[in-house]
Amino acid sequence: MSEIYQQLEARAKLCAAEIQKRGQVHLVSHIDADGITSAGIMGKCFERAKIPYTHEFVKKLDERVMTRLLSENHPLLVFTDLGSSLIDFMVDNNMNAVIADHHHPNGREENISKDSAAFPYHINPHLFGANGGFEISGSGVSYILACALGDNADLADLAIVGAIGDMQNRKYGKLVGLNKEILERGVSAGVLSYGPDLALFGKQTRPIYRILQYSSEPYLPGLTGDEEACIRFLQNTGIGYSQLDGAKFWIELDFEERKKIITALIKYCSDRGLSSSRAGEIVRECYILLSEKEGTEMRDASEFSTLLNATGRYDRAETGVAVCMGDRDVALSEAGNLLIEHRKNLVNGLNYVRENGICQLENIQYFYSGSEIKETIVGIIAGMSSSIEGVDRGKPIIGLADSEDGIKISSRGTQDLIRRGMNLSKAMSDVTEMVGGTGGGHDIAAGGTIPPEKVDEFIARLDIYIGNQLSGKNKC
Ligand code: C5P
Ligand code: C5P
Ligand code: C5P
Ligand code: ZN
Repeated sequence: MSEIYQQLEARAKLCAAEIQKRGQVHLVSHIDADGITSAGIMGKCFERAKIPYTHEFVKKLDERVMTRLLSENHPLLVFTDLGSSLIDFMVDNNMNAVIADHHHPNGREENISKDSAAFPYHINPHLFGANGGFEISGSGVSYILACALGDNADLADLAIVGAIGDMQNRKYGKLVGLNKEILERGVSAGVLSYGPDLALFGKQTRPIYRILQYSSEPYLPGLTGDEEACIRFLQNTGIGYSQLDGAKFWIELDFEERKKIITALIKYCSDRGLSSSRAGEIVRECYILLSEKEGTEMRDASEFSTLLNATGRYDRAETGVAVCMGDRDVALSEAGNLLIEHRKNLVNGLNYVRENGICQLENIQYFYSGSEIKETIVGIIAGMSSSIEGVDRGKPIIGLADSEDGIKISSRGTQDLIRRGMNLSKAMSDVTEMVGGTGGGHDIAAGGTIPPEKVDEFIARLDIYIGNQLSGKNKC
């Protein structure tokens, strides 16, 4: 076990003792796949430990939500996948709280330091020198807390689904660091397996030709978006589509057949101009949930995380957490319907960006979608839009959408930009504050909210701020 895992575990034990002492919990979690799996892990753990609890999901944590939580007088609040930016409020108001988060902590040094006496119940990888952007997710931190409360090693499968939902495998094409340690625990507990396989989305639930047709990351030249070409490609390889057998699913193929299709696919796309680094993205480490039935979304970590996003981002996180906790009946069928809607919204959102274009400034590029793209998915669209023609891989992408509290901002960058000094978490936190808003997140992906009348000023300031980061002036 790594030293950092041990430090997080020791901190989790302290928090577990506090939870046991209080005896009753109100759990507050985030609405995305990572937040929902975090809540699923804690829910299962509380059930097993017979600790009574209630729960709720929030889109974001701000002083308004905190003021309401304060007035509700809960014996103990447990925050998962959020909380580390509101510690000052908790300390100033004497709230009893435990935080299991992985976002950059924000607040007064004496409250957010590793050895804070004012707020000791804080589990966060950043306190111990690990990066919450790719080494561990909110669900991973929740998993460590759950393991301190009982024998919950088997919940590693949900922890991995959360990490994949937050795209923590993107940096190295696989899970590393603390995530890898959790993965190995899941393998030992018999709930997870992993290995290289086709990286494209839908291996459990879509016929192969549809997997190819819908692949956006990577974009497959000559195949993406063209159903007939995908069918022809499979017919030519002699696997996966025939008059006799019809359309096969990826999971129906044996190892040799998979290898043959992957080899043919890489050749087909390379012949049509796909760069070798992009072609390399056709295969990556994939994660299987062994307790789940083959052919269902829950069997594959990537499909499971999308199913959960399809609930939480449409105010139905309750449905997602019920699926995490084992409901394979009403909740699962509702989640399935929400997924169909979610896919439509992603396609429509991407088309909107494609049709309306992205504005290029010196150091950033952005699109404003008004109410055409829901604020809860504008971040996913901003991330996916990097595959659109005309998008510059050398600048972060900023998506703006209308929301109830103002204008929602979502920003997404690349590893290369981070290497050059960019940190979106810092930029979002500082520049939203300059215009009277709030924000934060990770170096590679961050968000915030600003007053509508400040959009132009915000964009101009952000362009300068990112420019300074890239030239070393605002480095942190
Ligand atoms: O709450 P927050 O931790 O949920 O979510 C992290 C976000 O960062 C995800 O929405 C994911 O899409 C994004 N991300 C990314 N690229 C990465 C890592 C994370 O866009 N390499
Ligand atoms: O599988 P991956 O982590 O790349 O998926 C990232 C997100 O993009 C998923 O949460 C999913 O919502 C979306 N996606 C999709 N269809 C695809 C590829 C990705 O819906 N073909
Ligand atoms: O909302 P979006 O998907 O763009 O968020 C990207 C990352 O920034 C997520 O990890 C999210 O939790 C974080 N974020 C934040 N504070 C905000 C908005 C987003 O920490 N006000
Ligand atoms: Zn998260």
